[in-house]
Amino acid sequence: MDCFRLRSLSYGGHVVASAPLRKRIAFVAGNDGSETEVFMKAVVVENYDSIDGISIKEMPMPDVSAGEVRVKIGAAAVGFVDGLKVQGLYQTKDPLPFVPGTEFAGIVDATAADVIAFSPGAPVIGMTRSGALAEYISVPSAALKILPPKIPFEAGASFQANYLTGLYALSARADLQKGETLLVLGAAGGVGIAAVQLGKLMGARVIAAASTPEKRDFAVRYGADDTIDYTKADWRDTLKALTGGHGPDVIFDPVGGEIALQAFRSIGWRGRHLVVGFASGTIPALAFNLPLLKGGALLGVDLAQIQQREPETHARLIAQLFDWLASGQLSPVVGKVVPFEDFREAFKTMQSRSALGKMIVKFA
Ligand SMILES: NC(=O)c1ccc[n+]([C@@H]2O[C@H](COP(=O)([O-])OP(=O)(O)OC[C@H]3O[C@@H](n4cnc5c(N)ncnc54)[C@H](OP(=O)(O)O)[C@@H]3O)[C@@H](O)[C@H]2O)c1
Repeated sequence: MDCFRLRSLSYGGHVVASAPLRKRIAFVAGNDGSETEVFMKAVVVENYDSIDGISIKEMPMPDVSAGEVRVKIGAAAVGFVDGLKVQGLYQTKDPLPFVPGTEFAGIVDATAADVIAFSPGAPVIGMTRSGALAEYISVPSAALKILPPKIPFEAGASFQANYLTGLYALSARADLQKGETLLVLGAAGGVGIAAVQLGKLMGARVIAAASTPEKRDFAVRYGADDTIDYTKADWRDTLKALTGGHGPDVIFDPVGGEIALQAFRSIGWRGRHLVVGFASGTIPALAFNLPLLKGGALLGVDLAQIQQREPETHARLIAQLFDWLASGQLSPVVGKVVPFEDFREAFKTMQSRSALGKMIVKFA
C-alpha cells in the first residue's frame, strides 16, 4: 500500500487544499498544547488511465464544520456510475485527485456542536457526491439517515440510490398496479434487482431479463416469476408467450440500446417504458409512431433531481422504503463483498459486466 500523504484533494464534494486545511482536517491535542494531524486511508483517483492506477493513500482525516457529521465508514457501495466516474467517463468529472464512492454505511464518529439529530455511536447510512471509499467522511447531517436495527452495513450501503430510483420509477412514474406485468431489463444489476424486489412488493408479476443463467437465477432468488434470455434472437417471442400475447404493462429499462428498442416494440397497450439508464453504452432513438401505435409512454427517471424537484414525493418514498426496511419486508440485495484493500476488484467486476447486484467494499 502507498503511504504517500496527500495534502490537496477533493472529497465529499469539498476541496481540501493546504491553505484551508486547518479548518477541514482533524487534529489531536497533545499534553504539551501541541496539535498533531490525524490521517486516514482512502482510495484516491489521480488520473483516468486505468483502474490499476487507482490506489489507497493516506490523507488527512476530515474534521466537522458547522452542520456536519463525521462517519467511520463500515461499508461503501460501488455501482455503475462509480465505475464511470473513476474512468473519467461520467457526465460530470470530479477535479483530480479525488476519493470515489457515493453511498456508505457506518457509525457516527463525531458531530459539529450544532448537530442534534445524530450522536456518536449511531449507525447511519448516507449519500455523497464523492468520498465514500475512505475510512472516514464528513457530510452535512441532512445527507444521513439512521440505519434501522439489525441491518448490516453492507445492506445499508446498497440501499438508498437503487431502491429510491426503483420505487420512484415504478410508483411515482409508472403507477404500477397489483396484477400488472413488469419486465425488468438488466434484472441482475444493481438497480435492476431492486426493481425486481420492489415490483414483487407492489404486487406485480415480474419477468426478469438478463444475459446469463447465473444472472437469471439470481433474479429468481429475489422474486422474479419468470425469466428471459435477451441475448437470444427470439426473446420477444418468449415474452409474447409469457404475457399471453399482451406484452408487459411496464418496462424498467437501465440498459438502453437495441434491447430497449426491441422491448418497446413488445410493450402492451397503454404500456409505460421507464428510461432509467444506458448500461449498454447506447442511447436508443425511438420512432415516434411506436408510442402512438401502442398508446404507450416513455417515462424518464433521474434520481439526482427527485429531491429538489419533488420534495414531497421524495420524502414519501424514502419513508416508505425505510418502513419496509425496518419491518423486514424489504432486504436490500448485497452483491459481492470485497475488503477495502481489494477495492479494485469491485470496479473490475462492474467493468466486466459480471456483477450480481451492487458491489460492496467492506472496511475492517
Ligand atoms: N436514472 C437514475 O436515476 C439511475 C439510478 C441508478 C442507476 N442508473 C443507471 O442504470 C444503469 C445501470 O446501473 P447499475 O448500477 O444497475 O449497473 P449494473 O449493476 O452494472 O447493471 C447493469 C446491467 O446492464 C446490463 N448490460 C447490458 N449491456 C451492458 C454493457 N454493455 N455493460 C454493462 N452492463 C450491461 C447487464 O445485465 P446483462 O448482462 O444481464 O445484460 C448489467 O447487469 C446505468 O446506466 C446507471 O447509470 C440510473
